[in-house]
Amino acid sequence: MKRIALLGATGSIGRQAVEIVEHHPELELVAAASGTQPVDGVAPLTQVGGDLTELLERAEPDVVLNAVVGFAGLPATLWALERGVTLALANKESLVAAGDLALAAQERGGGLLLPVDSEHSAAFQCLEGRVADQVHSLVLTGSGGPFRGRSRDELETVTPQEALAHPTWEMGPKITVDSATLANKGLELLEAHFLFGLDYDRIEVVLQPTSVVHALVRFRDGATLAHLGYPDMRVPISFALTYPERSVTPVAPLDFTSGLVLEFEPPDLETFPLLALARQAGGEGGTYPCAFNAANEVAVAAFLDRRLPFLAIAATVEEALAGIDGAPARDLDELVEADAAARRLAERALALA
Ligand SMILES: NC(=O)c1ccc[n+]([C@@H]2O[C@H](COP(=O)([O-])OP(=O)(O)OC[C@H]3O[C@@H](n4cnc5c(N)ncnc54)[C@H](OP(=O)(O)O)[C@@H]3O)[C@@H](O)[C@H]2O)c1
Repeated sequence: MKRIALLGATGSIGRQAVEIVEHHPELELVAAASGTQPVDGVAPLTQVGGDLTELLERAEPDVVLNAVVGFAGLPATLWALERGVTLALANKESLVAAGDLALAAQERGGGLLLPVDSEHSAAFQCLEGRVADQVHSLVLTGSGGPFRGRSRDELETVTPQEALAHPTWEMGPKITVDSATLANKGLELLEAHFLFGLDYDRIEVVLQPTSVVHALVRFRDGATLAHLGYPDMRVPISFALTYPERSVTPVAPLDFTSGLVLEFEPPDLETFPLLALARQAGGEGGTYPCAFNAANEVAVAAFLDRRLPFLAIAATVEEALAGIDGAPARDLDELVEADAAARRLAERALALA
């Protein structure tokens, strides 16, 4: 039996994880948590809000599936990594924000860090068992979101409702808006850097609008491995929870006779500047990725509240990044302060927008 603690149980990933666990007698949901919605009956131990590490202490899980959205997932990520408890990580924001601190915690803890993000799960599978020297570069794919192909003028007045209509994935509101701005690919670029130890110039982002190709790895001999499948998060969730067994899921294998479209195109970095800003933040290092994430969280919340136009999300993040000192955080307190400082700058930019 594997004892699973599920954080973010009421969300898009959380609900799909509950479904996966229900189909696997060898998986036991011992704890479940949410931010505000009730989780009664989902698991023997439950918690709504508060310090999720208290729940983890009581639950003593073998695997923590962190499917909380945003920086709020950080304590649970660090808790699992520090103790060597397997971390199935959907909450990309915590790895992006904590970067080196999280990796240091993993080194001390010695446990597994299994990505749940579909692109990173795919990349993990293509890279598994390879020697770093053999790898030329990683290619992360993205659908391009609902506004792919539009110009900045056409995005001037788009509403949250339009941004929430994702063409290929059904996800929570924050990541859906991030997909529309390409901030999600930016966060994924940063996440991939920390997960796979690759420099940013060895991680490329391309659009693949049908979301069938999840990632590709180019090797030094000219070969490229790709990971394909229908866009369904139950596959990477199941992969992480049942690793290394790769159990059966309800998802159908790919049908190559029914008009699969596998076209690729470069992202439009001028219309969607958050991807380039993320790359820049990654290149700067220190707490720049943390600040990128923090400012983006503030701006996306304001957009969803109809307090900020769509195009001003990127402008707000850019403004906040310009104002931070970016010095590396030596500990969690310094990281939390860097996150808070970036949020204050973003709020100030919002007030002026
Ligand atoms: N959805 C996807 O397909 C997908 C794909 C790849 C990666 N991810 C990543 O997975 C994470 C979750 O995404 P999602 O789409 O599942 O989001 P979601 O549907 O908005 O769900 C978020 C979950 O986090 C909980 N939560 C929020 N703030 C919390 C807090 N302070 N303390 C404890 N729990 C809190 C929510 O509880 P309440 O319901 O009570 O608010 C909810 O259960 C994100 O980091 C996202 O980037 C998602």
